[in-house]
Amino acid sequence: MAPNVSERTYIMVKPDGVDRGLIGEILSRFEKRGFKLIASKLALPSKEHLEKHYADLKERSFFPDLIRYMHSGPVFCMVFEGLDAVKTGRAMLGATNPLASAPGTIRGDFALATGRNICHGSDSVENAEKEIALWFPEGTLQYKLSQAAMIYE
Ligand code: TYD
Repeated sequence: MAPNVSERTYIMVKPDGVDRGLIGEILSRFEKRGFKLIASKLALPSKEHLEKHYADLKERSFFPDLIRYMHSGPVFCMVFEGLDAVKTGRAMLGATNPLASAPGTIRGDFALATGRNICHGSDSVENAEKEIALWFPEGTLQYKLSQAAMIYE
């Protein structure tokens, strides 16, 4: 079977990452790895929108704090496309708790606390598609990278 080079993942710089000037650093890591940016924007989501994004966690004790933190400033929303984008995106992010994240990962290089872990990445292909629909109802772009043959065999 041909490798699926059009898998998509939703990556979001959280308010702490935006405030600390890390949008470019995070975007750049995905770009340099070979992923194709097919949507991006700065957004100030409502609490209701954030509650939809984190709906799976609404029974957890940290949920109110999570929503408050995510609502404290703008977020930078991105969709990247490429081979194993979801799994590789999660590997690039590191563990939920930055202290358990290896150096070289985004959280392992730039964060110390679970509640300030600077970046979100979809954890399954199914959730990625849901998150992309929630954050980009306007859709994503289709285009070809001229360097694609230098990224994939
Ligand atoms: P989760 O979806 O479990 O982790 P991930 O972001 O790695 O997919 O949790 C969502 C966010 O909730 C997480 O990035 C930070 C926050 N959170 C806490 O504040 N405390 C916690 O104990 C957990 C598990 C998550």
